[in-house]
Amino acid sequence: HRLAVLISGSGTNLQAILDAIAEGSLQAQVAVVLSNKADAGGLERARQAGIPTEVLDHRQFDSREAFDQAMIDKLDVYKPETVVLAGFMRILSPLFVRHYTGQLINIHPSLLPKYRGLHTHARALEAGDREHGCSIHFVTEELDGGPLIAQARVEIVANDNPESLSNRVQIREHQLYPLVLQWRAEQRLSLDEQGVLLDGKPL
Ligand code: GRF
Repeated sequence: HRLAVLISGSGTNLQAILDAIAEGSLQAQVAVVLSNKADAGGLERARQAGIPTEVLDHRQFDSREAFDQAMIDKLDVYKPETVVLAGFMRILSPLFVRHYTGQLINIHPSLLPKYRGLHTHARALEAGDREHGCSIHFVTEELDGGPLIAQARVEIVANDNPESLSNRVQIREHQLYPLVLQWRAEQRLSLDEQGVLLDGKPL
């Protein structure tokens, strides 16, 4: 199963995917890693694993659509079956989302539908929540709003701060993403008009 992984930062989720592939628990290959930032730490992780990298700086494009079309042109050369957003910090246009409908997956550090957008850990703490976590979903045109595939929960404990909480959530992200991608690799996970299907049944 061919993956394209999009990143903007340190790429610890990318690393978890690469480790799962190396270990054999994820039967896939990362065909390409694309970053909108030339200094993203995840690019080095890709190079270490011998994976092709592409950098496209969004600031060099006149519009979101022009940037997104350039990404599509780059990615499609690698024939990805699933496009994996792993800390990719750009909002995608309908053009991009439609091109990869049913193939585009994101991980978000909250228990969606709570806390779409940024600063999710601080927001969960400020709200006095007792639990927090991460969500994996198919991407639709609504930001962090697509149909949910899986979630992992963590308890919020006394004296948690955004960093301590983020660290615990990330551990769960690194477990959950390879698992969901393995469902894709096994052709068990898809999206249709009714929503997410696992083994042909609505989730
Ligand atoms: C993760 O917390 C992910 O949920 C969010 O961005 C972060 C990416 O971290 N969308 P990394 O680059 O994988 O380390």
